[in-house]
Amino acid sequence: MIMDFKELIVVLATGLLCLADAQSDEAGCNQNRYCNDCINFHPDCAWCNDKEFTKARCSVNRALKDDGCREIKKPNNTELKTKSDDLKDGSFAHDPIQLTPQALKLTLRKGKAHSLMMTYRVARNLPIDMYFVMDASYTMATKISDVADRIEDLIAGLRKSFTQNIEIGFGVFIDKPVQPFTITTPRVLENPCLIQNTYCEPTYGFIHRQRLNKNTTEFIDTIRSTNTSSNFDTMEGGLDAVMQAAVCPEIVGWRAKSRRVLVYISDAGFHFAGDGKLGGIDLPNDAKCHMVPNVRTQRAIIGEYIYSHSKILDYPSYGMLAKALKDNNINAFFLVDEAYVHLYQGLTSMIDQSKTMRMDTTGSQGVVQKISDYYRELSEKVKITGVNLPPELHITVATNCSVSTIINTYRLPTDIKEMCTNLDVGKEVFFNVTVTLEECPKESGKRLLKLVPSGLQEHLEIEVDYSCDCECEKSAELDDRCSNKNGTYECGVCRCKPGRYGEFCQCSRAEGDTEEVMEGKCIRDIRTKKICEDLGTCECGVCKCQPNYEGTYCECNNNPCINRTSGEKCSNRGTCVCGQCRDCKDDYYGKLCQCPPEQNCRNEENGLMCSGHGKCECGACVCERIYEGPTCSLCPKCDRCRKCGYRECVECLDQKGTSALNSSTACPVCQALKIQKVDRFSDIEPCGYIDAEKCETHYVVDCVNNDIYLNITKGKICSLPPDPLLIALPLIGGILGVGLLLLLIWKILTFFYDRIEYARLEHEIQNAKWSNTENPIYLNPVTSNENPSYRGNKN
Ligand SMILES: *[C@@H]1O[C@H](CO)[C@@H](O)[C@H](O)[C@H]1NC(C)=O
Ligand SMILES: *[C@@H]1O[C@H](CO)[C@@H](O)[C@H](O)[C@H]1NC(C)=O
Ligand SMILES: *[C@@H]1O[C@H](CO)[C@@H](O)[C@H](O)[C@H]1NC(C)=O
Ligand SMILES: *[C@@H]1O[C@H](CO)[C@@H](O)[C@H](O)[C@H]1NC(C)=O
Ligand SMILES: *[C@@H]1O[C@H](CO)[C@@H](O)[C@H](O)[C@H]1NC(C)=O
Ligand SMILES: *[C@@H]1O[C@H](CO)[C@@H](O)[C@H](O)[C@H]1NC(C)=O
Ligand SMILES: *[C@@H]1O[C@H](CO)[C@@H](O)[C@H](O)[C@H]1NC(C)=O
Ligand SMILES: *[C@@H]1O[C@H](CO)[C@@H](O)[C@H](O)[C@H]1NC(C)=O
Ligand SMILES: *[C@@H]1O[C@H](CO)[C@@H](O)[C@H](O)[C@H]1NC(C)=O
Repeated sequence: MIMDFKELIVVLATGLLCLADAQSDEAGCNQNRYCNDCINFHPDCAWCNDKEFTKARCSVNRALKDDGCREIKKPNNTELKTKSDDLKDGSFAHDPIQLTPQALKLTLRKGKAHSLMMTYRVARNLPIDMYFVMDASYTMATKISDVADRIEDLIAGLRKSFTQNIEIGFGVFIDKPVQPFTITTPRVLENPCLIQNTYCEPTYGFIHRQRLNKNTTEFIDTIRSTNTSSNFDTMEGGLDAVMQAAVCPEIVGWRAKSRRVLVYISDAGFHFAGDGKLGGIDLPNDAKCHMVPNVRTQRAIIGEYIYSHSKILDYPSYGMLAKALKDNNINAFFLVDEAYVHLYQGLTSMIDQSKTMRMDTTGSQGVVQKISDYYRELSEKVKITGVNLPPELHITVATNCSVSTIINTYRLPTDIKEMCTNLDVGKEVFFNVTVTLEECPKESGKRLLKLVPSGLQEHLEIEVDYSCDCECEKSAELDDRCSNKNGTYECGVCRCKPGRYGEFCQCSRAEGDTEEVMEGKCIRDIRTKKICEDLGTCECGVCKCQPNYEGTYCECNNNPCINRTSGEKCSNRGTCVCGQCRDCKDDYYGKLCQCPPEQNCRNEENGLMCSGHGKCECGACVCERIYEGPTCSLCPKCDRCRKCGYRECVECLDQKGTSALNSSTACPVCQALKIQKVDRFSDIEPCGYIDAEKCETHYVVDCVNNDIYLNITKGKICSLPPDPLLIALPLIGGILGVGLLLLLIWKILTFFYDRIEYARLEHEIQNAKWSNTENPIYLNPVTSNENPSYRGNKN
């Protein structure tokens, strides 16, 4: 049940993913024109190689399928294990296998991460190759014999803890036999120990004494027979020796499937790159094997080799040495005198999997213990390193080796930290290696890289190929499909020659004109960026408009020129200019040139438009009521439909009453009429019939089609005799008004007359020549009588 539920979730999840995929081209695949650009644009992009396909060829897989593409190119990552032997412990019959798989082939697509699993297990009976590089200077004599004494203990210890399969060998070094490192007078050269008054071997750079093998007795014998030698300065040529031991695997006898350990023992410091100049050696070390059979002392027969370029090449640099050791998977262990530990630690800090330890002066038991500890440490840790990693690959390694529940991720090759420590024999860990192609390299072709557990011979070999190119683009040839061989036809699209562009290379452009410039010619408004106003397509810098649109940018809409029903443009009589019909032929007019000339409306006889009884609309007369004919010249109803006709009928109906309305027999004069009673007439002026009682009936004669209607109002309007007061009052008002007016005029006139008279009187008074005689007829009207008692105010 739980399983079912999980499955359900997986199904749902994949379903959702598919939906997301189908929904849209979120990655923006569509902007890619060519197959190569498409597949390298985003890992989700796919290319349609179907020749008949017409939609955008670069899109997400699902979209192409939905659009019906029959041939989709979507390179994906593939992995093929070419060698995948099971992990196993070693035995005398076969080598152990600690790492699986051993080889695989990858095909990677840009941007798509690929994860592969590697399993590692520390095997029992892993072969050990242990090569001693020993300082054979005079002071080392006791230490060398200590190694000879203790080697058996060491081997016994290793056998007990790790493996039965151990091979040992050794070589010795002094220094370059050149001044100032060595005194080069012939006698001292022959016996450098002349000063000490003993014999020692002539100085040499490096001699390989004992090839790696399992015969401990032989090792001890050879080591014991080793004579010491001497040089002049305190530093030795140890790095030359380590270099040769590393780069001469055939001579040293390093096995292919072993853990290689180089044990370096010295009580002095070392010379390094640049020191050679003191001795006049200019050539830098070349990190190549220069060991030749040691013929000088006839010991070549027993497999002795000597470094031949000691006097020719400079000492190696730290970096060179580190690389040589790493490339040959050699783990170097430096056992040195206390005084030089720091010097050697400087060196080993730069060399992967190497270590410096102080050499005990007290006893050789320490040497054995230290070598054994070093080996244990080596076998308990593992770290994946890369060889030949192409720069375009991003590689991370995730492993659960430190704690089972924690997964740590490291980036190769930059993270050179420790990955796994404390691995016990038999313990299994996985490495999840994620490889991503970040950028397609210029050169195509396969790459061979290795993932190596550092310090081990085993590795995973990966042959990686990139699907950066579309096969179909490789066979491109000039093709007729691309406008007369103006381009190559690749993967369903044309790739144009310089100066040509367009889907089929049908367009040409001037030098320097980009496709954008050409497209700009189809855009009217830079702000809206609408190509051909969205009403057409831009072809070679020219707008090709949709039907019924025209203009440089398809800005003219010619639809208004078209009659929707007939589909004719300007009624086939005129030209459409940007949505307007122009130059209509034969005097036609109107928006679509649909109207015949107005001349058609003119009555030839009287010269009036529509005979004065109508309006000319779109070349045809629209006649007033009852008028007919193309020029409204006909009026068959004019007589019958006179405005106030049929008065007799109204009179008859009035006399016979409303009961007669239905019966035509009652009023034969009404026979041809349809009589309608209406409430009142609103917009026309009716006719009136006044009966004996002075009441008025309103009616209208109306010709509708072939019927003559007599519409009569339901009620009558009876006018009353006039009110006497209404007549008298204005009369009285008028008489009074006129009287008052006359009075006023009379008054004004007399007033002026009086003034004139008075003025004349005045004038006469002024100018009169009166005699001072009294008028004889004048009698003074005043008589005075004196009151005798009155005294007045005379006082
Ligand atoms: C990768 O391609 C192969 C063949 O083209 C196909 O069988 C396989 O399912 C694809 N894998 C993925 C993860 O799409
Ligand atoms: C080991 O070497 C010694 C002397 O060098 C020889 O006598 C002996 O046979 C060898 N042993 C083996 C097993 O080869
Ligand atoms: C060491 O010196 C002795 C005598 O001087 C010589 O017989 C022997 O061969 C030398 N050993 C080596 C390994 O050269
Ligand atoms: C790492 O994972 C593998 C597989 O899941 C498991 O077999 C192994 O025990 C784990 N290793 C450690 C150190 O936990
Ligand atoms: C390996 O790592 C990748 C990326 O981190 C992850 O997607 C994948 O599931 C891992 N594979 C296993 C088996 O853990
Ligand atoms: C390119 O096309 C033009 C016009 O289609 C044609 O005249 C010309 O010959 C073509 N060029 C080539 C090299 O075919
Ligand atoms: C459009 O064409 C139809 C059929 O020919 C015609 O009846 C109609 O009058 C025309 N309309 C205009 C506006 O010309
Ligand atoms: C007149 O005709 C109407 C319906 O047509 C009818 O209802 C009415 O009775 C008739 N009147 C007379 C007097 O025949
Ligand atoms: C007269 O009556 C007829 C019928 O009801 C109607 O169609 C017509 O418009 C009327 N005429 C007027 C002027 O009211």
